[in-house]
Formats: sequence, structure tokens, C-alpha cells
Amino acid sequence: MKIFKDKHTLQKEILKTKGISFVPTMGGLHEGHISLIKQSKKTKLKTLVSIFVNPKQFNKKSDFKSYPRNTKKDIKQLKKLKINYLYIPTFKDIYGFKPKKKVFLDKFSKKLCGKFRKGHFEGVLNVVNRFIEIIKPRYIFLGKKDYQQLYLIKKHIEKRKIKSKIVECKTIRENNGIACSSRNSNLNKNQIKIASNIFYYLRNLKKKIKKNNNLFKVNKIKEDLRNLGATKIDYLENYNTKSFKKIKKLNKKFNLFFAYYIKNTRLIDNI
Ligand code: PAF
Repeated sequence: MKIFKDKHTLQKEILKTKGISFVPTMGGLHEGHISLIKQSKKTKLKTLVSIFVNPKQFNKKSDFKSYPRNTKKDIKQLKKLKINYLYIPTFKDIYGFKPKKKVFLDKFSKKLCGKFRKGHFEGVLNVVNRFIEIIKPRYIFLGKKDYQQLYLIKKHIEKRKIKSKIVECKTIRENNGIACSSRNSNLNKNQIKIASNIFYYLRNLKKKIKKNNNLFKVNKIKEDLRNLGATKIDYLENYNTKSFKKIKKLNKKFNLFFAYYIKNTRLIDNI
């Protein structure tokens, strides 16, 4: 595994390859990332993983500071996985140039997380657009846990006629049902139990509301979630995952999207 901190050296190296399968991350690697990497390795192209905690996608300084970082452990794990390239850029390497393409931000960026984290998706698209210009990957692997992010990146790629293909990867869950996330490492044992109970509660709820539309009473559900230990609920909404239209009749295909806090840790998921 070759490690790069500078885009010019990286570009020189990848010019020699037949193409790149790219797994962008902010480090704090977990089973979800590992699954993305394993799928990337199946493409037979060289796999490049990036680790960059992008300050522009955090709407609160405190959240940026407390975001889990463990680069040493990440490097060890990536070596074991035998990826080809690891790119750990500095801020200047990413933001010290003017990208050729302008970011396209679909209007869906104003919904769900976009409503509660001002500037978050602008920050995500900004960094992803820059990574794409530096790396020009053939494939980009993204997890469905961050479905809104995945959708918005796809829309940007479509609109700007970028040649990279997004590979949508299923959400990987811990044994207790919680979606793997770097943020889980900020939870204590009791908080993990709460997150797990909330997952099972919402999964059962989805099954029930598929049969009986009238059971989707948001305020009552939010109250139940608070009783289960959620500190604050940002949103709980149903959307069709293809069209991202709000669902009126819940017997149609939909996902339940939610974001909530346990103390200071914000968790998102969709089931
Ligand atoms: O999902 C993430 O880890 C980040 O949002 C991404 C795609 C690496 C951009 O910083």
C-alpha cells in the first residue's frame, strides 16, 4: 500500500494504472467502510481510499473537533486489506485549487439533514467534486446509510456529465441492529443499547405501517423515541428512495429516514 499526502505525486502514480476504484472516507474505519473496500477490490482496478475529515461539511466546530479520528489504526487496517493507494491530503492539497466544474446541488439538499445541518451538503459536494477532479475515478463506492448524500452526489455527477460511476452499497449493521458509523465510537454501553432499541422499534413500526397507513403518527412516534432515550429528534420522514418523493400511501415502496441525538451524538439511518 502506497501512502500519498500530495495530489501531484498521487496523480503521477495513478496515470500509470488502468483506472481507479475510489472509496472516500473520513477515517474512523468500521465494518461499513471495510465492506465498501472489499466491493471496490472486486473491480480489478486499483483501489484508492482517502482519509480526510472535511471541515467544510461540519456545521458546528464542536462536532468537527469531536469527530472520531484514529489514523494509525486505520492505516494498519488498510494495509491488512491490501488496498493499493491511501490518500491522506492536507487542507491545502484539497482546497488550494479552483475546480473546473461547479458543484450542482439538487433541491433535495434542503430536506432531511439539509434542514438541520446548514451548509453540510454544500461541504460534502465541494470536497467530493475536488476529489473527483484530482483522482478521476472510474468507480466511487458509497454506502446507503448516508442515502441523501449518495443521491446528491449522483445528481451532481449526472448534471455535470462526470464519467465516474457511483456504486451504491448496502448498509452494514452491527449485531445489535445499529448501522455502522464512525460516530458509534462516541457512544457508551448504555447509549448503544438505546440506539439498538430505537432501531428495532422503528423497524417494527415500518412493518406495521406498511400494513396500516394510519399508524404513522409522527408526534406519537417521536414521543416514544424520547421515552426510549433519544435526547432530540431532528426528523422522521418517509420517502420513496428512487424519486425522493414523499410517500402518501405507505403501502408503496418507501424508506423511513431518521436522525436523532443521544446526548451530543447525532445518528442517522434509513430502513
Ligand atoms: O461519507 C463520508 O464519510 C463523507 O461525507 C465523504 C463522502 C467522505 C465526504 O467527505
